[in-house]
Amino acid sequence: MMRILHVVGARPNFMKIAPLLPAFSKYRGVTQYLIHTGQHYDDEMSKRFFLDLDIKPPDIFLGVGSGSHAEQTGKIMIAFEKVLCREKPDWVVVMGDVNSTLAAALVCAKERVRLAHVEAGLRSFDRTMAEEVNRIVTDRLSNALFTTSEEANENLKREGISEDKIFFVGNIMIDSLVRFRQKAENSPILKDLQLAPKTYAVMTLHRPTNVDEATPLRNITQALRELQQEIRIIFPVHPRCAKNLERLNLKGEFSKMKNVTLVNPLGYLDFLKLSSASLFVMTDSGGVQEETTFLDVPCLTLRENTERPVTVTQGTNEIVGNDPERIVRMSRQILQGRRKTGRVPDLWDGQTAERIAAILMNGSIK
Ligand code: UD1
Ligand code: UDP
Repeated sequence: MMRILHVVGARPNFMKIAPLLPAFSKYRGVTQYLIHTGQHYDDEMSKRFFLDLDIKPPDIFLGVGSGSHAEQTGKIMIAFEKVLCREKPDWVVVMGDVNSTLAAALVCAKERVRLAHVEAGLRSFDRTMAEEVNRIVTDRLSNALFTTSEEANENLKREGISEDKIFFVGNIMIDSLVRFRQKAENSPILKDLQLAPKTYAVMTLHRPTNVDEATPLRNITQALRELQQEIRIIFPVHPRCAKNLERLNLKGEFSKMKNVTLVNPLGYLDFLKLSSASLFVMTDSGGVQEETTFLDVPCLTLRENTERPVTVTQGTNEIVGNDPERIVRMSRQILQGRRKTGRVPDLWDGQTAERIAAILMNGSIK
C-alpha cells in the first residue's frame, strides 16, 4: 500500500498535476489525495483548469488566499501540517516553485515525511526572485528530485545533492500539452477574437519586476503602443497585472490602442490554441517559455534571465528584458521573417508522468 499527498495551489501547478494523478492510478494499492492550498482562487486562475484538464476536484481545500510571502507561506504551513499529521502519507509530491511548494516542503521536512519535487533543479541565479528561494529550499529538503533538463541535474549536483536522488524524467507540462493539444484545436478563441492564425502576437505578464513598479510597466506599455501599429496583440491579463494597471492608471493607455486586446486570464485550452496559432509570444511566465519551445513558436522573454536555459540553447526562446526599444527591435525581426527556430529538448515527450510514477512506485528511494 502507498499513500500519496499531492499539493497544488497556483495556476502553473495545475497543468503539472493533471497527468500525474492518472499515472499513479494505474498502480494497484495506491491511495492519492489532492490538496489545493487556495493560493490562487479566482475561477479563471483555478477551477477552470480542473475542468479543462479533467482533474478531479481537490480532496482537501485549505483556502489560504493571498497575502504577503510570510503570511501566505505561514498560513499554508499551519493548515497543511494538520492534514499531514492526520493522513500520514508515504510521500508528498510538490511541483514548481510557488509559495505553496515551499510551504508544503518545510512541513514535510519537520514531520519527516518523504518529499518528491517535480521540476527540480531550475535556477535563475537571481535570488531577488521569490521563486528562486522557493526552488533552492524545496530541492534541499526533497528526497526525490525530478528534473526537466541536464542543466537542472548539474545545478543540483553542484549544490551537493546526492546523485541517487536526482531523476531526469523530462517536462511534465509537456505531458498535458501533448494530451490536450487535439482538444484545444476545438477552442473557439480565434473565432471569438476574430483572429487568423499567425497574424497576431500574445503577451502575458505577472512577474513583480515587470508589473509591481511604474517604470517597467510603463516601458512595456510604450513598447506595445509602437508594436500594435504593426501587429495585433492579445493580452490575457493576470490578476496581479490587472491590479497594477488599475493602480498606475494605465488602463486608459490600453483603451487608446486599437490593436491591443486585453482579455481576462484564459483557460488552458483557449490559451494553448491562442499561443500555438500566434506569430510570436512575449512573456515573463516560466511555463510559457517551455510550451512555446515545444510548439516551435518564437518566444521573447521579458526578463533579464531564465531558470529554463534549455529553451534558449535548444528552443525558440530569446531573453529580451523590459527595455521598450529592445522589445520592439526583437519583435520587428520576427515580423520581418527572421525568427528563431529550435528543437524539442530530450524527454519532453508526453511520458514524464509515467516515468515519475514508475520511479516512486519502485519503492527503492529512502
Ligand atoms: C504566483 C507565484 C509565481 C507564479 C504565478 C503564476 C509565488 C511567490 N508566486 O504569483 O511564481 O509564476 O503565481 O501565475 O508563489 N490574485 C487574484 N486572484 C487569484 C490569485 C491572485 O486576484 O486567484 C491577486 C491578488 O491580489 C494577489 C496577487 O494576485 O495578491 C498575487 O498573487 P500570488 O499568488 O501571491 O502571486 P502571483 O503573482 O500570482
Ligand atoms: N496559461 C493559461 N492562461 C493564461 C495564461 C497562461 O492557461 O491566460 C497557462 C500557460 O499555458 C501555462 C501556465 O498557464 O501552462 C503557466 O502559468 P503562469 O504563467 O501563471 O506561471 P509560471 O509558469 O510563470 O509560474
